[in-house]
Amino acid sequence: MSKSAAGSGSREIRILVVHGPNLNLLGKREPDIYGKLTLAEIDSELAVAAKTIGGEVGCQIDVDCFQSNHEGELVDRIQEAMGHESGILINPGGFTHTSVALRDALVATTLPVVEIHLSNVYAREAFRQNSYVSPIALGVISGLGASGYRYGLEALVEHLVRQP
Ligand code: DQA
Repeated sequence: MSKSAAGSGSREIRILVVHGPNLNLLGKREPDIYGKLTLAEIDSELAVAAKTIGGEVGCQIDVDCFQSNHEGELVDRIQEAMGHESGILINPGGFTHTSVALRDALVATTLPVVEIHLSNVYAREAFRQNSYVSPIALGVISGLGASGYRYGLEALVEHLVRQP
């Protein structure tokens, strides 16, 4: 689903938002760690944020949100961003710590990537402290809950509007 922050005639910025495995369970899944918002609520908050940020920077910002529990489906969707989207906001979930394939797909797009984690992965188990994505990301937001997506979107848009 693509949600548009209208502003006809203005520059269009298309952001792909990728949610990895188990994030479809948000709201029910370990709410003390991941919060009480559902993924649908996070996605609709992002659509509202896109409109606000778009108004601030004078651009039309389209946010397209995609979730999958399957590594191959995530790779396929990231590949589809090539030539279509302007940047990627991704919470790779557990694949953060395991997936060379996801990282390679992100690099292949040549698009700026912002990595998001709801929890502070650095305050948790040691295995969560290695990310295959962080070294190729523009930046990482971890531990600020659902607001992290909005901060990440803002940072990505700010980066993109600075590009010619
Ligand atoms: C997560 C952190 C990961 O370690 C975990 O596997 C997730 C969610 C987060 O948003 O905090 O699924 O990416």
